[in-house]
Order: sequence, then C-alpha cells, then structure tokens
Amino acid sequence: MRLVLTEDLTQEMKLAKAIYDNDNILLNKGVKNLHQYKDRLLELGIDYLYVEDKYSADIELKPVIKEKSRRQGKKVIKKTLDKISEGLSQNDIKELKGLVDEISSQIILNDEVLLNLHSLKRTSEYTYEHSLNVGVISIAIAKILGYSRNDICKIGMGGMLHDTGKKLIPEKILKKPARLTDSEYDIMKNHPQLGFEELQKLETISPLSRTMVFSHHERWDGTGYPRGLKGEETHVFARIAAIADVFDALSSSRVYRDKMPVHKALEYIMHHTETLFDYQIVKKILPKISFYPNGSEVILSTGERGIVKAQNRGFPTRPIIRIIQSSTGKEKDAELDLLKHMNIVIEEVIA
Ligand SMILES: [Fe+2]
Repeated sequence: MRLVLTEDLTQEMKLAKAIYDNDNILLNKGVKNLHQYKDRLLELGIDYLYVEDKYSADIELKPVIKEKSRRQGKKVIKKTLDKISEGLSQNDIKELKGLVDEISSQIILNDEVLLNLHSLKRTSEYTYEHSLNVGVISIAIAKILGYSRNDICKIGMGGMLHDTGKKLIPEKILKKPARLTDSEYDIMKNHPQLGFEELQKLETISPLSRTMVFSHHERWDGTGYPRGLKGEETHVFARIAAIADVFDALSSSRVYRDKMPVHKALEYIMHHTETLFDYQIVKKILPKISFYPNGSEVILSTGERGIVKAQNRGFPTRPIIRIIQSSTGKEKDAELDLLKHMNIVIEEVIA
C-alpha cells in the first residue's frame, strides 16, 4: 500500500483503503480505474489516497489506531462538541470516555516501535478530526513517556477535548479562510478559558484533563496564553497537548495552507524546543516517530524517485526506500537502505 496525490492517480492503481463520508462508503477498497474519479475526489477535498500498485504490494502500513475506531471516534467527538453550546451531560462524557479507553488500549498494546502518524484529513471535517488526532497523539506520547494507563486515559480525554472552547467562538472568526486580524485573534484566544469553564460543570472529567484544555496554548518560554506560564509552571500534561496540537495542525491541510509533510512538522517542533516546547518530552518521543511513514513517495538527493518501504528501528530519518524511477526518469526497481548510504538524503516528499 502507498500514498499518492489524487492528482497523480493512474489507470493501474487500485484503491487500498475504502473512502468514507461519515458512515457511507464513497469508494470501496479494491476499486480499479481510480483515475476516472480524480475530479470528483478533488472536489470532495480528498487530495491523497492509499493505493495498491505494482510498486507497493509488499509495503505495509500500520495505522496507529483501527480504521473503525477512527470513524467511530470522529462521530463521538462531533456529537460531543456539537452539544457544547446547549450543555453536555454526564452521559455524553461517558461515551467519550469509552472511546478514549478503547483507543488507549489499542495504542498501549501496539508495540510498533515507530509511530506512523501520517494522517489524512479533509478540511470540511477539520475540527473533529483534529480533536481526535490530538487525543490520539497525546495518548501515544503519554505511552512513550511511560505513564500509567489511568494517566494515559486522562491525557487522551484532555487531548480530545482541548479545543472545546472553539465551539463557543463566533463561526465567522473560527472559519475565516485567512489570517485573523489582531482583534479577531484576541477573541480566538479566549477558547482555552471558555472550554475550561464549560468542562468544569462536569465533575467526572479529571481536573488534569481540564488543565490540558486550559493550558494547551502555553509555551515553554512564556510567550503562550492565557497566562503566559513558563517551563514547568505549565502542567506536563498540557505540555504534551501543546506538542500534539501543533504537530497535528501543521501536518494537516487548512483552507489557507497546504499540509506539511510529517518530517517538516517534526523538524519545526525540534527547532522550537526550549522556546515553544519542552525539550525533555521532544527528545524522548522523536526516536519513536517515523519521519517518513511507510508508503510515502519521495525524491532522493540522487534525483531518484522512490517509495518508503520500511523503517530502521531507532533511526527514524533513515528508512529503506524502494526506488521506482532513475534520475533520468526511467522506470527502475531497486532497494536502497538509507542507513547504509549515509551520503544520500531524502530531498522531497511528494505524498
Ligand atoms: Fe486550541
């Protein structure tokens, strides 16, 4: 299985993962002649697809959580967040807790050393997918840092609910397809406080999860909001949420910006440790995340084009590449282990 740009679909590609619109299947796994759906898919905001072709048959791509849980998760989060303005009941929270519990189990039991955080999001469903992803990534970070199952669940809950307050921000600011003005940004900056206050009404939510909601925009150097806390003054759970939030926001496409490949988003986080993020957390999690997830299409410094075939444990920037095209554009079939060729680097990620 591999990832391609919808634009680059060709006749010989078969769909490797079904495409859903909520619970309805838009295209079934195994559908052939995908290129005929190209325009329709692009119209629907689906810019990337997982396909099977002669280059990718033995490339395995293990998602962090099961596809079914992802769909179910999005539904539960949508239901929960859409109810914020009328008030949440303990029952709504019970359902969300069940979800966090299930996802935490999957991540705890998944002993893949490298986390594949490649995620595809559609702009129209951004808020819900982002909330789910921040929950999932926070859980994964908590696992790497060695927290107990109980703490992992609290961290997952805080991650899923981190942007609750955005539901109480006027839509015209929230969905503005451009950068916000200063005064609009000031209104937007109220969302941690608004979310925190709303969730305070529900005593079954742990105060630590609520802290993540309140403090996920605090930054290590004190330049964040709402309180401008520095370093360890911000609870470690909220420092985890800050990393998960920024990573997911960068690696997804928004109305005003294309998505950043995983390695660029990770580089951004790396370059901002000690200024924006906690270095100790970043240092521990980086070796466990695939910079170039399996199935990504890449261009090497040799000019060759290839697909990431597998990862080298402990070396997240040096995966094994299946070369499919030579530097002169001729079809090629070879394998290259970047760990054995330290002079060659990945220059560009296409998909
Ligand atoms: Fe936020």
